[in-house]
Amino acid sequence: MSMIPGDAAVRRFRRCFSALSAALALIGTAVFLSACGEEAGSADKLVMVTEATFPPYEFRMGREVIGVDVDIVRAVAEELGRKLEIKDAAFDSVIAHVITGKADIAASGITVTEERKKNVLFSIPYVTAAQLIIVMKDSRIDSAAALKNNVRIGVQSGTTGFDYVRNNIITDKSSPLLAQFPNGALAVEAMKAGKIDAVILDAGPAQALVAQNGGTITVLPEPLTSEEYAIAVSKQNRELCRTIDKVIRRLKESGGLREIFDRNKALAEQHRKLQERQQETSSS
Ligand code: ARG
Repeated sequence: MSMIPGDAAVRRFRRCFSALSAALALIGTAVFLSACGEEAGSADKLVMVTEATFPPYEFRMGREVIGVDVDIVRAVAEELGRKLEIKDAAFDSVIAHVITGKADIAASGITVTEERKKNVLFSIPYVTAAQLIIVMKDSRIDSAAALKNNVRIGVQSGTTGFDYVRNNIITDKSSPLLAQFPNGALAVEAMKAGKIDAVILDAGPAQALVAQNGGTITVLPEPLTSEEYAIAVSKQNRELCRTIDKVIRRLKESGGLREIFDRNKALAEQHRKLQERQQETSSS
């Protein structure tokens, strides 16, 4: 896509212009106005997009999406005096959501990468993270080096975990050894079913999955990468990015960010135990 500033505005204008002619022909200018006013950033709400299977950053408790990212963005919404709206979407679409204006903010445990920086603005980072290897407890895979021996690996699509495997382990694009899943939990299910041998996933959700799968799976201690998570906004939204930076800086300095992490880790754990109990009662 083109990187000329204002390009999106031109496209939006063209879109609106064609909408205008159609609208005039059909039912008048009211349609034109509402079609062009449909940008995410309306004055009173802030739209965040995420992929909510990623504890403790974003996960569902009942119908509600909660997590570290939600709390940070809620603080941003408060700072702006806007109401927070959350969209739950496929991870490989969250960046596109902010580029096309379907959301103001993408907060989804997103790793800052040079490639992504070409398309969106990133806030300052709020945490350092890593990719870890998940294997069955009785697996003979015991290191990153062992992944190169014809190991079938699962990843969440569109993630830096996928990039890592593609660039370092399974470089052949047509190799059937690399399998993509909509989320880490499904990749782990496939591993438990014997369809793959290892899952590469971010540390936070990887540890949550290990806790959830009572003793049958484990993570190897050696991290594959060091990555930084940040919040993404459209290149047209420099002002919003500055506000996010300000809020993150404040949360870091006040200890609020630490509290957000502690609270959401505890909530994720609580949620896991609840699910476990529900499963026990439904299977007995
Ligand atoms: N940190 C990784 C990336 O940026 C994975 C993020 C996945 N996030 C999620 N909410 N599913 O590619």
